[in-house]
Amino acid sequence: MAYPVPGTREPFLATRRQDAWWVVPLAMATTFIVFIAYASWAAFQPVEYSKFGPYISPFFSPDLTRFIPGFTWSPALLILWVPAGFRLTCYYGRKAYYRSVALSPSACAVGKGDRDYKGERALPWVLNNLHRYFLYLVTVLVIFHWIHFFDAFRFNDGWGMGLGNIVVAADTIFLTLYVFSCHSLRHLVGGKIDCYSCAAAGVTRHKIWTGVSSLNNLHNVYFWCSLFTVGFADVYVRLCAMGVWSDVRFF
Ligand code: FES
Repeated sequence: MAYPVPGTREPFLATRRQDAWWVVPLAMATTFIVFIAYASWAAFQPVEYSKFGPYISPFFSPDLTRFIPGFTWSPALLILWVPAGFRLTCYYGRKAYYRSVALSPSACAVGKGDRDYKGERALPWVLNNLHRYFLYLVTVLVIFHWIHFFDAFRFNDGWGMGLGNIVVAADTIFLTLYVFSCHSLRHLVGGKIDCYSCAAAGVTRHKIWTGVSSLNNLHNVYFWCSLFTVGFADVYVRLCAMGVWSDVRFF
């Protein structure tokens, strides 16, 4: 049967495409599922495996339990909802999981069946409009990542550098690039302005908007790099703390 048949919807996953269009959505869905399963598991592991020397797993940093006396659950539970909400409401993230997980549609020119896209006007998708507020919260998290980046050079025997510092640096840098290439941030700094030369601080705002716009071109790349590096930072610290891996100390 040839698709599309005029006046009908293409059946679910029906397509005339001959290329391996399914590879990217399959790889994305697998990555999402593995990451969410791992992060959920890691959040409930003993807290002593979240630290090794000066390194702290990004899933557990900052430790907010000190501000909540009597909180005996995992400190990760106080943190993880922020980056999780930020990623789930991310404009690129939505495209990625609408295609790969919801299969709606899974790729260009691939049928999605009878399911209609009704916009982000009702629960649960209307919650995606909270993205800007998650941006504010995650910006605070970026500051803590940089504080930890510098603290991670302070070993028990003085200043030094190990392989873990490179792991921490990769996580911190890619998280920063991901957050500062955000579409909402781009709108926030310059999206509402029609005339920069007429607006207050217009020249400065135009410079910031140009910088965010240029980062924004690679937002999808930063999304994935940041996801991999934050996950690997937790794996690295955890396996070092468990004695499975040894941190290589350069000096
Ligand atoms: S649009 Fe992706 S983080 Fe804001």
